[in-house]
Amino acid sequence: MSTYRSIEWKDGVVRLLDQRLIPHETVYVDYADYRDVATAIREMVIRGAPALGAAAAYAMALAAVHSQAADAASLRAELAQAAAVLRTARPTAANLFWAIQRVMDRAADPGLATPADIRTAVLAEAHAIAEEDVQANRQIGLNALPLIPDKANIIHHCNTGGLATVGYGTALGVIRAAHEHGKRVHVFVDETRPRLQGARLTAWELKQLGIPHTVIVDGASGYFMRTVGIDLCVVGCDRVARNGDTANKIGTYNLALVAHAHGVPFYVVGPTSTIDLSIPNGDAIQVEERPAREITQIGGEQITPDGVAVANPAFDVTPARYITAIITEAGIAYPPYEESLPDLVARAQEQRKQMEPWAAGSEQVDV
Ligand code: MRU
Repeated sequence: MSTYRSIEWKDGVVRLLDQRLIPHETVYVDYADYRDVATAIREMVIRGAPALGAAAAYAMALAAVHSQAADAASLRAELAQAAAVLRTARPTAANLFWAIQRVMDRAADPGLATPADIRTAVLAEAHAIAEEDVQANRQIGLNALPLIPDKANIIHHCNTGGLATVGYGTALGVIRAAHEHGKRVHVFVDETRPRLQGARLTAWELKQLGIPHTVIVDGASGYFMRTVGIDLCVVGCDRVARNGDTANKIGTYNLALVAHAHGVPFYVVGPTSTIDLSIPNGDAIQVEERPAREITQIGGEQITPDGVAVANPAFDVTPARYITAIITEAGIAYPPYEESLPDLVARAQEQRKQMEPWAAGSEQVDV
C-alpha cells in the first residue's frame, strides 16, 4: 500500500510532496497561490503528466477560492489569467493543458451566476479530475492484465507510479496490478538520466510495494534483453498524437528501438487525457528543453569541463511503428492508431459523462 500522496487539497491550500527530495526525505509543502504552484511545476516539485494535470486543476481552484472578485465576469477573467500563467509552466504533458481547459469549460457554464457558484464548481471539477485519475489508473491496471505473462521480466522507464499521478500509477500501475494478481514480475528500473526519476522515485515506490526490482543504467536495456531475457517494456506518456507517436521521458525512443530489435513487446500506458487528437503526429509535439545543469552536475557537483556545450531535451518522441499497443482506462489501442485512438477517446468521454452527476455534486466552499 502507498503511504504517500503526490497531491492533496486541504482547507484551501494545495499540498504537494516535494519529489526532488525523495528518497532521502518526504516533505510536504503547502501552496495557497496558483503562481507558486506554477513555479513548483516548473521546478519539478511535482512531475509526471497526470500529476501535472491535477496540480494545474487545483491551482485553478486556488485562483478561484482566494479571489476577491465581486462578480462572476471578474472571477472568470481572473481564471483566464491564471490559466495563461499555468499553461507556461511546462509545455509537453498534454494533461496539464487538458485539465486547465476542463476547469475553464466548467467555469464558463452560464448557469453559474455568482462568484460563489463558480468557486464551488471549479473546486468540484479539480476534485473530479483528481479522483478520476486514480480510478482510471486502477482500470488501466486491470485492462493490461491479459498482456502480462504469469512470470515476467519487465523494463520500465522514468517514474509513472503514485508519484507521477494522483494515485496508483499508469505503467507502474500495470506492474502493480500484475503483482497484486499474483503474477511474478521482476522490474528492471531504468535509472532515467538526467534527473534519475527511475533510480530515485520508481525504486522508492517499488520497494514500498514489495515488488522485486533491479536498477539498471539507461544504456543497459540491450544487454539485459540479450542475457536475462525481457518479456516486455512498459512506459508512460506525456502526449500521444493522433497517429500514436508518443512523447515520453528522454530515452524512451532508444528503449523502443532496442525492444523492436529484440522482438520484445513495447507498451505505452496512460489515461486518455494524455491523447491529443488535435495533432496529426509527433512532429507537432513541443519538447521541453531543460537547464544544462541537470546534465553538467550530479548532486550539485559539476562533472563536466567548464563551459561545455549541453543539450537537454526532457522528452523524445517514439514513432508509433515501434509501439505494440497503447493501454488506457477505456481499453487497449492497437495499430492503426488513427482508428483505434479516436474510438477510445470517445468511449472515455462517454464513461465520464455517466460519472458527471457525482463529479458535479458538492457542497459550497468556505473561504
Ligand atoms: O519530466 P517528468 O518527470 O515530468 O517526466 C515524466 C515522464 O516522462 C513520465 O514517464 C510520464 O509523464 C508519464 S507519468 C505517468
